Amino acid sequence: MKIAMIGTGYVGLVTGACLAHIGHEIICVDHDQSKISALKNGEIPIYEPGLDKVVADSIASGNLTFTTELTEAVEAVGTIFIAVGTPPAADGRSDLTQVEAAAKQIAKAANGSKIVVIKSTVPVGTCRRVGRILGKHGEDHEFHVASNPEFLREGNAVDDFMNPDRIVVGTDSDKSEAAMRDIYQRFEAQDVPFVSTNLETSELIKYSANAFLAAKVAFINEMSNLCDATGANVEDLSLGIGLDERIGKAFLKPGPGYGGSCFPKDTLALTILAQEADAPSRIIESVVDSNSNHIRRLGRKIAEFCADSWGLDYQHPLIDKRIAVLGLAFKANTDDIRSAASTVIAPLLIKQGASVIGYDPEASEAALDAIDHIETTTDMDEALEGADAVVILTEWENIKSIDWSKKKKLLKSPVIIDLRNLFDPDQMAELNIQYSSLGRPLTGNRR
Ligand code: UGA
Repeated sequence: MKIAMIGTGYVGLVTGACLAHIGHEIICVDHDQSKISALKNGEIPIYEPGLDKVVADSIASGNLTFTTELTEAVEAVGTIFIAVGTPPAADGRSDLTQVEAAAKQIAKAANGSKIVVIKSTVPVGTCRRVGRILGKHGEDHEFHVASNPEFLREGNAVDDFMNPDRIVVGTDSDKSEAAMRDIYQRFEAQDVPFVSTNLETSELIKYSANAFLAAKVAFINEMSNLCDATGANVEDLSLGIGLDERIGKAFLKPGPGYGGSCFPKDTLALTILAQEADAPSRIIESVVDSNSNHIRRLGRKIAEFCADSWGLDYQHPLIDKRIAVLGLAFKANTDDIRSAASTVIAPLLIKQGASVIGYDPEASEAALDAIDHIETTTDMDEALEGADAVVILTEWENIKSIDWSKKKKLLKSPVIIDLRNLFDPDQMAELNIQYSSLGRPLTGNRR
């Protein structure tokens, strides 16, 4: 099928390239001329494993093209996906300016009946609103609207697209439902469940899925604090509850709080949506609070652990100390630092008088722009050299595989606060490293 994809941000580019890869003819549209020129040469503006190959192969097969000309693209196709940004506005609501502008442009450019698919994450009611905009600005033509949320994880997006758990589609007519079934026919043929529903339900499925996963993360983080306080072990706890199929093992790893461009934004937007619908979600409101309390609590934990390890009192222990932060991206395999733990933890440490050097293989540059007074590097040894303490925030493979028996000598004092539980507390004790992680007592302490 011939499809236009409006927006070549993270979602639009991955979806466009992957749809091209499975045989559709995709025209990706973006008003950013330099981005489109770079994409035409196969240059990918984001770090996403495997995406460069999918883009290059699809360009070579002729299935993927790029343009800045929205009108020409709309004229050439019957189905248009809107995959533009819906960033949070100052009040936490999603800013729909770009979605509405795209709808208006599509309506004006239309040369016949069109199916318009909303891929961007949008509050309930947006697809109907887009339908009204299309009708108003393109009154000579027939428009059908569909909602088709994405469930792609950054760092795993290509694989998630190719191996989906389900396809969710909300439609307003048989025509748009049939078009969506055609687009995803390959997956239905592989028995991937196809959830076909109305527009509102589809929009809400996206928010509910992210909110539920965020709740799991917030829950296990609270449990890890409780484990710390009681001598229980959060990893055994995760396994012990996760093996119950009704709970499931995924998303039960404690960490420095959920971050990224989706969970923080979507949980907040869902609480506002629920309040406005007079059906407030106390659970999601608590999840949002729990996540921000968790990271602040970890800030205190770092300072206290350092003070104990260095034999200082709790009054300003970090003054003039050099702290290496390993991992600045909000999770591994991405260069994204939006709502990353590093953007909260590093400023907290700096505010308490520490100098912070952050290491990340992909996100160092972005962090330098986003975090005042941080120094960053892509050379891990440079970060570790002379550090009074190390704080681990991201589970990059090369951080996970550090051999501390070798790297320890670079440190001024062997103090490590591991907020991803990447290392074995007993081994760290054997290396005489002062080591703190989340919810894990030494097994030597087993009672
Ligand atoms: C999330 C969803 O997982 C995707 O399904 C969805 O499509 C996407 O949002 C979106 O709405 O676009 P993503 O933001 O890429 O994907 O990241 P996740 O892998 O879900 O992780 C979110 C946060 O939770 C990260 O900070 C991660 O470190 C944290 N997390 C995750 C944990 O702390 N523990 C876990 O066990 C799992």
